[in-house]
Amino acid sequence: MSKARIAVLVSGGGTNLEALLNAQEAGKLPHGEIVLVCASNEGAYALERARNHGVPATVVARKAMSQSAFETALSIKLAAYRVDVIILAGFLSILSEEFVSRWPDRMINIHPSLIPAFCGKGMYGLRVHEAALERGVQITGATVHLVNEIPDGGRILLQKAVEVLPDDTPQTLQRRVMEQAEWVLLPQAAEMVCRELAERETP
Ligand code: GRF
Repeated sequence: MSKARIAVLVSGGGTNLEALLNAQEAGKLPHGEIVLVCASNEGAYALERARNHGVPATVVARKAMSQSAFETALSIKLAAYRVDVIILAGFLSILSEEFVSRWPDRMINIHPSLIPAFCGKGMYGLRVHEAALERGVQITGATVHLVNEIPDGGRILLQKAVEVLPDDTPQTLQRRVMEQAEWVLLPQAAEMVCRELAERETP
């Protein structure tokens, strides 16, 4: 395998997707290629970003589908694009352990805190930063981890700390964590995983 074929799964704005696309265009993803962006809802602005970069964008709507129908539809898309690696970049739909177990060491997620702090059920988006401010931590950050079997239980790939400032609101903190950590770490972790896979699968 020369380049691992990547699908980025999204649900919202897609700034992490943008960071991945920019990294790819800058030659910082030599062992991977983003071949598909798949959103869990039609309104995701991330779809627009994918199209602007000339990457195929599709929707598998979570709404009005059972978990198993959703995962079957998703699997069909992933197979059609011969995807090797899944990147969850602000993907808000829960995936079953059964689905996750079919992607060992091939699925990564970004979380906007230093895991194990401020993660788990209900901890997504601004809630993570609200919780960090409520707790009064002076350092937070972001984590990229493998998703292996137990959701949020996979190996940590990369973490980066970010300072919390006295006047921070959840919004200002979220922005700083994105700029200083998420957009930096996710392309690096994507390259790490793709390189490992390419090296393992090339005789
Ligand atoms: C990010 O904070 C990411 O860590 C997360 O959800 C947010 C997505 O932002 N889990 P975006 O859609 O990439 O802009």
